[in-house]
This record gives sequence, structure tokens and C-alpha cells, in this order.
Amino acid sequence: MRKKIVAGNWKMNLSAEEALTLANELKVKIDHQLDTKDPKIPNGLPQILLFPPNVYLSRVLEVFRNYEGVAVGVQNIHQEEKGAFTGEVSPLMVRSLGGTHTLIGHSERRIHFNEDDELLAKKIALAVKNGLTPVYCCGEMLPDRETGKHFQLVSEQLKKGVFWMDEQEVKNIIIAYEPVWAIGTGQTASPEQAQEMHAYLRELINDHYSKKTAEEMTILYGGSCNAKNAAELFAQKDVDGGLIGGASLKADDFFTIIQSF
Ligand code: PGA
Repeated sequence: MRKKIVAGNWKMNLSAEEALTLANELKVKIDHQLDTKDPKIPNGLPQILLFPPNVYLSRVLEVFRNYEGVAVGVQNIHQEEKGAFTGEVSPLMVRSLGGTHTLIGHSERRIHFNEDDELLAKKIALAVKNGLTPVYCCGEMLPDRETGKHFQLVSEQLKKGVFWMDEQEVKNIIIAYEPVWAIGTGQTASPEQAQEMHAYLRELINDHYSKKTAEEMTILYGGSCNAKNAAELFAQKDVDGGLIGGASLKADDFFTIIQSF
């Protein structure tokens, strides 16, 4: 059975104090659900991924040390392991701190930092080489959807970004479908629109790899997913959880989303 995942992308928000408060509030809620047989595994919860700003990575990791159900990662990495790249952070650094995941190709990176699929493929390769699990984001802009190009566009993002990997490697990638028109806008894709695109993505994986791999890969939905609409979105057959922005900044809302399966 494929993994259910709820991920929180804190983006460039929160002071250090606020970030720690949020992490600790979440921890208290998770502690209430600990499995008595194995206290490290939150009982009945999906895998939880947290993506704080880089400067808070080690502190958030510290809060969740020994919590197998909670993994912490970064929102972006550089495509080189080390060197003269002022201001950048490499997957090797993230891994050496204990970070396990990285977002790759979030639309805000594609739009504001001109990251294209070729560059993102390099980032994925280096992340995997250094033992980080990439969460690869794809999704169309509103004009693409309005002109019926959304399937083709997302298909290209997936093919160029991910389909160069072999079948064994690709199984470790998490896909996040995030329609850009829904991100931070309060306008969510309808459950039908989300399901339609997720089924399409799974079909592409099926065609390129195999039915088994398509069935095993986790595909998250992102874009104004919140405490009110998460259950309906997560009830869709091919939606395995969410990548949550705004609503991940409030422990109550984020935990409601975590419990929405
Ligand atoms: P949002 O962001 O939930 O605030 O729309 C989602 C994302 O960008 O990952």
C-alpha cells in the first residue's frame, strides 16, 4: 500500500521563536496519538513532513528527534555538492544535519528563480545521491488550464524532471501536484479536478514504468488545501495526501489536515 503523507511547507515565514512554538505545538498533538506499542510511531497518522526555512532546520529536527513518523527537510537545494556558490545550501549539508527530504521545483522556485525542468532534474539527481527524498512539484498556470494545455504541461514537467530515473530510483520520489492558480489564492482545485490530474499522473508513471510502480508512488495535492477541504480531497482515490502552505503555519489547522484521511 502506498504511503499517506501530509507535508507542511512553511515557505519564508515565522521568526525562530514562532517556528519553535509551531513545532512544539505540533509535537504535543502528535504525542497524544503515540502508539503504546511503539511510542516512536504516531498511531494511525500519515507520515508527516515539515519543510521549515533552512535557518531553523536543525532546531526543528531537534524537536522531532526519534519521531519516526515525522521527517524534516528543506524547501530547496543547490545542484552542486559544494563549492563557491555563495548563499546556497547543498543536499550533503542537509543530510549531514539529519534532514531527510527536499522540495524540488516548487512553482515559486520555477517562477521567481527561473528553475526549469533540466535544472530540477540535476537537483533531483544530487538529492538522491546524497540520500535525500525529493518531493517533486509540478502544476500548471491558469492560462494553461483555460486553454486545455494543463495535461501536456504537467506531463512534460514529469517526463523531463523525473522520467530519466530508473524504476528502482523513481520509487523513492514523492510527486506533488500543485496547480499554480490554487497556491496561496484560497481557490482550491475541486476534488474532481485533483483526482483527474492525479489519475493522469499515475497513468503516465504506469506507461513509462509499470503498474506496480504507479500504484506504489505517493502523489500529493497542494494548493489552498486547508482544514475544511482536506478530507474531501484526500478521499479521492489517487490523492495520497497534501503539500500544505498557509494552513501548515497553524498547528490546529495542520493537525486537522493530518487527521483528514
Ligand atoms: P498553499 O501553498 O497551501 O498556501 O496554497 C501550497 C504550497 O505552495 O505548497
